[in-house]
Amino acid sequence: MKISIIGTGYVGLVTGACLAEKGHQVTCVDINPERVAALNRAESPIFEAGLEELLRKHVGKGLSATTDLNAAVLGTELTLIAVGTPFNGKEIDLTFVLGATKQIGAALKQKNAYHVVVVKSTVVPGTTDQHVLPALEASSGKKAGKDFGVGMNPEFLSEGEAVNDFLFPDRIVLGGIDARATDVLEEVYKPFGPEVPRLRTNTRTAEMIKYASNSLLATLISFSNELANLGSALGGIDTVEVMRGVHLSMYFRSRNKEGLPPITSFLKAGCGFGGSCLPKDVSALIAHGHKAATSMRMLESVIRINEEQPKRTVALLRKHWSSLKGVRVAVLGLSFKPETSDVRESPAFPIMRELLDSGAAVKAYDPVAKHEAQRAFPDAKVNYCDSLDAALTDVDAVVVVTPWKEFKDVPARLASSQPKTVFVDGRRAYDKQAVANYEGIGL
Ligand SMILES: NC(=O)c1ccc[n+]([C@@H]2O[C@H](COP(=O)([O-])OP(=O)(O)OC[C@H]3O[C@@H](n4cnc5c(N)ncnc54)[C@H](O)[C@@H]3O)[C@@H](O)[C@H]2O)c1
Repeated sequence: MKISIIGTGYVGLVTGACLAEKGHQVTCVDINPERVAALNRAESPIFEAGLEELLRKHVGKGLSATTDLNAAVLGTELTLIAVGTPFNGKEIDLTFVLGATKQIGAALKQKNAYHVVVVKSTVVPGTTDQHVLPALEASSGKKAGKDFGVGMNPEFLSEGEAVNDFLFPDRIVLGGIDARATDVLEEVYKPFGPEVPRLRTNTRTAEMIKYASNSLLATLISFSNELANLGSALGGIDTVEVMRGVHLSMYFRSRNKEGLPPITSFLKAGCGFGGSCLPKDVSALIAHGHKAATSMRMLESVIRINEEQPKRTVALLRKHWSSLKGVRVAVLGLSFKPETSDVRESPAFPIMRELLDSGAAVKAYDPVAKHEAQRAFPDAKVNYCDSLDAALTDVDAVVVVTPWKEFKDVPARLASSQPKTVFVDGRRAYDKQAVANYEGIGL
């Protein structure tokens, strides 16, 4: 199928490369000409395992990029909208979605054949039928359902594993305004095989499924953090063991299978969730709930608990120094999770802010996201290091925010060469016995 994708960020780019891998003819569109030029050279602007390999395989064949949205829509049968949907502090910001929609509608005005427009961006329930559909009708002068179709197809990929997640999805949610639009959308996913569960529904339900999924994961994290904080206050409780005890319940594992299901990785304490999805999506859903005069008390608490975790992480250092003035601290891991260069909403930033405000001298290191972090947190007082060695030299404390593989041996290194260094495990990812001055959330 000939598919155009509007927005070539994390989702648009991965979707484009993976749909080309599945045999579709894909045209990626972006307003950023450098991004488009890089893609046409088969260079990935983001760090994501396996992505550049796919680009090298398909660019110039089944995959191309352009800034010409009009031509891309006219030359394809279906258009996916994958632009950003930030939270503006009050509500979801639909500027990019509606900007792209207007342009797509203008292209549809020139097209006689039936075309399907699908929202892949995460948007609050009601966006597709109340905003996107009327905007398409207004700018095309045509009728939805008759001249063109409209759909909503939420994306569940997780950064760091995005290519694998897209190629081997756990589910495919197909929202449509009618069966005709949903049938065309379903064709996109035909090459993924019948074994992947598919759910056909209306656009609002499809939108809500994405928010329900992200809100549940965020809730599990804040739930774990709330219990961890209580455990610390009571004393004599290690939250890692508490959660291990919870995970062993039959509700979290199958009696016949080895290992724990992935959901348990969200039932863990730490310095808080970040990234481009969970914080903004939960906040947008709360705001949307308020607009519908529905109180969102539980999700409000989820966000509040999460916002406190960075401060609690820094507070672990205060057990060793009554004042952090002049204390030299290395912050390790600046992307919001390992295996990605995405630093959006990374807890590393509030942690560094708290350290700087307390007078600490801050060094920071990340194996791939140094430049992204410098752009997002351009404080001249932070010494952004080029290597782990440089970050660990002459420090009084180390705070691991994102446990990249490269940091695996940090406790052992500290134990042998700098035994007095305080080690704060912001993710409870390390053995608490491995280093003398170990500190962790919920310990
Ligand atoms: N990043 C994730 O892990 C993830 C996962 C699932 C869903 N989502 C959702 O997918 C959507 C996209 O997220 P992202 O992280 O890929 O965003 P992003 O900011 O990385 O990329 C958006 C891209 O859209 C481009 N753009 C904006 N307006 C445009 C227009 N009119 N025409 C062409 N291009 C335009 C921008 O230049 C940018 O390159 C969001 O709604 C997000 O919530 C993201």
